[in-house]
Amino acid sequence: MSVPLLDLAAQHGPLHDELRQAFDSVLTSGKFVIPSPEVEKLETDLAGRCGTRFAFGVSSGTDALLAALMALGIGPGDEVITTPFTFFATAGCVARVGARPVFADVEQGSFNIDPARIAGAVTARSKAIIPVHLFGQMADMGPILEVAQRHHLAVIEDACQAIGAKDHDRPAGGWGQIGCLSFYPTKNLAALGDAGACVTSDEELARKLKAIRLHGQTGEYQHDLIGGNFRLDAVQAACLNVKIRHLDAWTSARRRLAQRYDELLAGLPIQTPPVGAGKFHVYNQYTIRTPGISPGISPGISPGMAPGRGAGSDSGGGDRRDELKRFLAEKKIGCRVYYPLPLHLQPCFAGLGYRPGDFPQAEQAAREVLSLPMFPEMKQAQQDEVVAALREWIARG
Ligand SMILES: Cc1ncc(COP(=O)(O)O)c(C=O)c1O
Repeated sequence: MSVPLLDLAAQHGPLHDELRQAFDSVLTSGKFVIPSPEVEKLETDLAGRCGTRFAFGVSSGTDALLAALMALGIGPGDEVITTPFTFFATAGCVARVGARPVFADVEQGSFNIDPARIAGAVTARSKAIIPVHLFGQMADMGPILEVAQRHHLAVIEDACQAIGAKDHDRPAGGWGQIGCLSFYPTKNLAALGDAGACVTSDEELARKLKAIRLHGQTGEYQHDLIGGNFRLDAVQAACLNVKIRHLDAWTSARRRLAQRYDELLAGLPIQTPPVGAGKFHVYNQYTIRTPGISPGISPGISPGMAPGRGAGSDSGGGDRRDELKRFLAEKKIGCRVYYPLPLHLQPCFAGLGYRPGDFPQAEQAAREVLSLPMFPEMKQAQQDEVVAALREWIARG
């Protein structure tokens, strides 16, 4: 049996009639762009979920980050501290506004930026921190906000993979000055294409974000700011309004599947994803570390992390992970490496002057991670197939 990494057709099947109705209503309304009742409805829901006063639908998670940086006035001469182990957009947007991405290494367990390393990256030019809540687990926001306050830095949460995640009961997106969400099809709340949102509780930033998504327009053809075309289409918002009603149930299903993976993989030489104290993980990805990992890896992980089960051995590294990836592909089991090359080593950032070895945790993660099939509609039989394949590969030695 083949098992996809993600199965959106399985999600859309039962929603077909509701989605059709939503599209028809946008079609007949003729209101395709902002301002649109569909977008406003979604924004109200998102603000409620993120615990913020305001939400603004935008064209993608990337544009949410870009709009956030623009609203905070970040530009040439400024530095923004972020993680090297994330999707490119996080740091790409910093460079796009003319600022310099400055990286701080990640924690071994959560793959998220290590708050203890942020202070060492602060300079007189630092303006903001962008923690990323990677794979659906929040970064350690308490210490991150402390460091930000101490150095007068803004915090933009990249919550693109983490809608619904919580840190000590407080939702992703609601901690920093601005939170950024993505509804790209691989996300827990998925549009039928690109879509995103910014959330904030700051009235002044809200005013700016609202303008920036429409070329900085503050009145009819009046532009007090320079923005972009970051509009969210009504048809995407209509789709998201249908789906958001199911998000909590989907999150529960993801969490049940993750727990079952943890149990089924217990005792195998595989590091299952550890969950930090007080963290509510929403498992956008279920990401293991492969066996054959370097000596540093053990189930102990970092302080505050509940250990994932299983431990690595001392041999191998990336080669073993790539072997496993090929083995699963032969078995028609979807899997993916998020992300094989940390951002400080990306060719386009060569000018930043980073070298291999600068961020050992991120580099090790890039060699060892593998994301397994994870979607709310996954059947137990499909999950059993994934686990059986992993067991078979391990048994081969
Ligand atoms: C961590 C992270 N940041 C930013 C983005 C950018 O979002 P989008 O693809 O909607 O532009 C993504 C998603 O792809 C992401 O995973």
